[in-house]
Amino acid sequence: MSGASLPGDRVRLGGVGCGNIAKLNVPGYLEHDRCDVVAVCDPVAELAKAAAEEWDVPKVYTDLDALLADDDVDAVEVLTPTHLHHDHVVSALQAGKHVSCQKPLGNTVEECRAMAAAADAAGRTLRVGECFYHYPPLERAKELIAEGAIGKPTNIRIRTVVGQTDAQFQRDLRPEGYGWRLDRRSPGGHLFDDMVHKYAMALWLADQDIVSVQAALRRRDLFFEPCNVIFEYEDPELLGSMEVSYAPQMWLRSSYYGADEFFEVQGDEGFLWVTRYTGELLDLAPVMLYRGKVEERSMVAFSDVDADWGTGFRRSSAHFVDALLTGGPAEMTAEQATKVLQLCFAVYQAGNSRQPVDPRTISGSVSPHGWAEW
Ligand SMILES: NC(=O)c1ccc[n+]([C@@H]2O[C@H](COP(=O)([O-])OP(=O)(O)OC[C@H]3O[C@@H](n4cnc5c(N)ncnc54)[C@H](O)[C@@H]3O)[C@@H](O)[C@H]2O)c1
Repeated sequence: MSGASLPGDRVRLGGVGCGNIAKLNVPGYLEHDRCDVVAVCDPVAELAKAAAEEWDVPKVYTDLDALLADDDVDAVEVLTPTHLHHDHVVSALQAGKHVSCQKPLGNTVEECRAMAAAADAAGRTLRVGECFYHYPPLERAKELIAEGAIGKPTNIRIRTVVGQTDAQFQRDLRPEGYGWRLDRRSPGGHLFDDMVHKYAMALWLADQDIVSVQAALRRRDLFFEPCNVIFEYEDPELLGSMEVSYAPQMWLRSSYYGADEFFEVQGDEGFLWVTRYTGELLDLAPVMLYRGKVEERSMVAFSDVDADWGTGFRRSSAHFVDALLTGGPAEMTAEQATKVLQLCFAVYQAGNSRQPVDPRTISGSVSPHGWAEW
């Protein structure tokens, strides 16, 4: 969908939901020189008012339908709880708005497909805000893979550890944002919410489908997804693995959540490492490359890459505005987001059944056995 469906040469944006993550998503819109944040909406009036005051936004709504009826709004950023995305996204598209929706796009495969169909029917852009796509160290890693820096990729490893930190950002989170994540309104809980990013990376870094998943899941306190997963890709020479572990007694240096990630892509000529994401556990350059061909061996540390977690959010918001203005691709697409959800559910199904699962066969929704039985 091109910028031709915009009435002017700027994007007039409405922020839908002023909860915990809005403070990271909206700044990218405020900073863009061809975007105006013209309205915010939250049924919790004090949240909407406080956001409007902080960002100098002229219009404040507590009713989504009223915001969607506002002709001064061209596009919306949907920052509401995931179980509400389907209804909010479809309403916005039917009202003629372009939509950026936070990941996960929905709670079921059918919801995601219905949202994509609504965008097609309305002739409007629907993209999913996946900040990992726009995080500079991961972008650099993907470019280096495409340039052949490590030869042919043969193994992708993604590790997440969830621990604790004392960051002001985490202390300031409103506990209300965790209710809907930890009950049956979510198919997998707080870690489902986070792990979709990593499933997205398992697909995006490889640039091909995963055809089989094997998984061992464990439950820890309220959480599932301390888990180990093996991925088989379309190319039988490429394998992947993912680990998620919960370490509540482990303090992690972080400016945001108490979590950190490590990505390793091995090729037949070298290694690429992205050494952080949410936290700052390691004193290493954010991207490191080992070129291992005998005659040209080298280790390169990319120390100059912006590795702040918040940068991925700001760049993701700017990308949506640019896509609307230029008619360029708006990533992540709804189709990609649907594959991510299928991959997540395939992991749950493989853990439940102890059998390999092809994510492409997944429909509906799957939860780990015993999910939300507390
Ligand atoms: N990209 C990331 O890394 C990232 C991180 C955290 C959350 N998220 C996603 O962002 C979304 C929001 O998460 P959160 O942590 O901010 O949740 P939250 O519960 O803190 O905030 C959601 C807000 O939406 C509001 N809301 C509910 N119904 C509404 C309606 N009809 N109209 C307008 N607002 C409405 C709520 O009142 C609340 O203030 C979720 O989908 C979550 O998965 C993404």
